[in-house]
Amino acid sequence: MIRATAEHISRSAANVIRERGRFTFVLSGGSTPKPLYALLATEEYRNRIDWSRVHFFWGDDRCVPPSDEASNYRLVSEALLAHVPARPEHIHRMQTELSPEECARDYERRLQGFFQVGSGEAPVFDFDLLGLGTNAHTASLFPFSPALKIDSALATAVEVDDKHRWRVTLTLPVINRARETVFLVAGSEKSDVVNEVIFGERNPEKLPAQLVQPSGNLIWRIDHAAASKLPQGSFTTE
Ligand code: 6PG
Repeated sequence: MIRATAEHISRSAANVIRERGRFTFVLSGGSTPKPLYALLATEEYRNRIDWSRVHFFWGDDRCVPPSDEASNYRLVSEALLAHVPARPEHIHRMQTELSPEECARDYERRLQGFFQVGSGEAPVFDFDLLGLGTNAHTASLFPFSPALKIDSALATAVEVDDKHRWRVTLTLPVINRARETVFLVAGSEKSDVVNEVIFGERNPEKLPAQLVQPSGNLIWRIDHAAASKLPQGSFTTE
């Protein structure tokens, strides 16, 4: 699954950079993509992707300093960015040292400036890598969250638990415009939720990942353990 995803990213980056001169790549936090970032950081992929033309964005991050071990920016920096010739000015991290609300507004302004879009218009990312929580959240779009109903802001602050911890997440108007979206799901603990999200009854408030219906391609990359409860014949094996 990890190698197939790395091959997918490598092919997409090569095609998009050839067509448009840059590749806008939205990264996910969590444990699932770590081996993917590690593979992309190896000699093999370091030389196959023109990293100097890749722009890195985050689907969400925790409102902690970038050096904090909970930071998705730190996760990606250590696993990938430190090992490939990415250009610092192409690393568009969320300014999580700001207040949650200001961080969300700041990221929206950064996206509007980078993509040259006006207010109310969502940018189009080339590639969006998403994870899936066991409660069917993706990015930081959690069940029954007010963030699920946002139809104009590009990013928003969400309070995620009773410990008053905050995150900033891209919103669905942005997520659903990506040219390519890949869900990366691994582990037997995800086997129920991935089946429920894809083949279960539609219940998007409870299952936010069901709201990811991008205008571009949507691919689910699921390892054998997580795919163990999917209906027979409902997927192809790479
Ligand atoms: C994060 C991610 C989050 C993650 C899921 C799955 O910031 O943690 O954006 O949406 O993708 O929680 O996490 P695992 O890959 O660790 O299961």
